[in-house]
Amino acid sequence: TSPEPVPGYTHDDPGLAPSPVTPADLALLKASVLFGPADEEALRLAGEVLSGQIEQVLDVWYGFVGSHPHLVAYFSTPDGTPIDDYLARVRARFARWIADTCTRPYDERWLAYQQEIALRHTEPKKNQTDHADSVPHIPLRHIIAFIYPITATIRPFLAAGGHDAEQVDAMHQAWFKAVTLQVALWSQPYAGRAW
Ligand code: HEM
Repeated sequence: TSPEPVPGYTHDDPGLAPSPVTPADLALLKASVLFGPADEEALRLAGEVLSGQIEQVLDVWYGFVGSHPHLVAYFSTPDGTPIDDYLARVRARFARWIADTCTRPYDERWLAYQQEIALRHTEPKKNQTDHADSVPHIPLRHIIAFIYPITATIRPFLAAGGHDAEQVDAMHQAWFKAVTLQVALWSQPYAGRAW
């Protein structure tokens, strides 16, 4: 976790709006994704293992987005020019998100920031944080599809800490569940009443 303030990162902002998702909703979603105390423990370990590798993880993810024109389009102007400053600012918050996913309690403040992240992918809030002149919205289907690359590509980094195969597997499964859980939460503003 970086101690420096990250522009636009408002997880601890007292003005953060509460989430419409309740702690009871969250508890049931955790049950649906089979997320339990052993996963919390595995994520704490993952947080330690990943802490020195965050930039390398982001290099892989940004390489993935950058090599797919249909994805980099969401970090670009409507006519297709990538916005370097936007990419860089989001990258710094993405770094915080990796650490937060592993180390934060999934409490009401976390839920509130989940909703904020969700909204930042959608029309009401995309581009606002970074004053980016980019396209207005990211389709939900790509958010869902991203669960796979975000999960598959993390494994070598989890394995790099020298833990045994069983521990690496536990960390990887916990990460997969945590990402799936968050994407389920992020679908709320997309789905509205259908959520
Ligand atoms: C923002 C994660 C899918 C494009 C972010 C942030 C995180 C994140 C952590 C920064 C949140 C903050 O402001 O603190 C994820 C995860 C995804 C996902 C875990 C799926 C599993 C996608 C996809 C795209 C995308 C498919 C399309 C290329 C963006 C953009 C922003 C952003 C453009 C900046 C939004 C803004 O204007 O504030 N994402 N994302 N994301 N993501 Fe995603």
